[in-house]
Amino acid sequence: MVRDHFVENRPAGRAPVEGLDIGTGANLYPAMSMLPFCDTVSLVERSRPNREWLRAQRECYASFWNAYWRLLCKNSSEYAGIDLQYALKCQLQVRSGNIFRMPSRRFGIGTMFFVAESISDRESEFIQATEGFFGSLKVGAPFACAFMQESRGYTVGKIRYPAVSITKTDIEHCLADLVDDFQVTPVCSDKPLRPGYKGMILALGRAGKSRN
Ligand SMILES: C[S@@+](CC[C@H](N)C(=O)[O-])C[C@H]1O[C@@H](n2cnc3c(N)ncnc32)[C@H](O)[C@@H]1O
Repeated sequence: MVRDHFVENRPAGRAPVEGLDIGTGANLYPAMSMLPFCDTVSLVERSRPNREWLRAQRECYASFWNAYWRLLCKNSSEYAGIDLQYALKCQLQVRSGNIFRMPSRRFGIGTMFFVAESISDRESEFIQATEGFFGSLKVGAPFACAFMQESRGYTVGKIRYPAVSITKTDIEHCLADLVDDFQVTPVCSDKPLRPGYKGMILALGRAGKSRN
């Protein structure tokens, strides 16, 4: 769905396009989905160990990403002609940054996977983070966002990872204030990744609000 959305809504014009994946963590497939449509992809990540891991992946990516890349390439001329290792090395820019302090209207295509609802347990911060992401995209920029549905957060060892429990309706309300053109779709899975959440939700659309 993400791939087809980007193919159908590719950024227009001749100016170089800068892509954004906010809060990349250890997940390269959102950035991979943008490679055919931009000159550079900024991976904006707050955690230094994550940034170091991403820089290493840029130089020599782990073979498990091939399965994701094959899926993107299937029946798609946009992706199939690209040498993944070369593209990652030339296009990815790993940057330190904060979703709450993003530049205004800079990026021409963007992804945000499991970030706004997964970095805090405060609803106000979910909204601020979502505003930060959308405010950094140019008006008309295609975007893809994924959210955990009704997540209670989780604990690994002694570390508690917080979450804001959100539903499809919460996402629709939040996005309605920020963008004109979007669709929100629950993604069903037979096998949850962990207990404590009710599935995933995908939002696709184009950034910008006509009244802004
Ligand atoms: C739940 S993880 C999601 C990672 C990845 N996008 C994925 O799909 O698996 C949230 C990520 O956001 C990063 N993060 C936390 N606070 C942030 C902030 N204020 N600005 C940008 N990134 C942040 C974390 O370091 C972490 O990598």
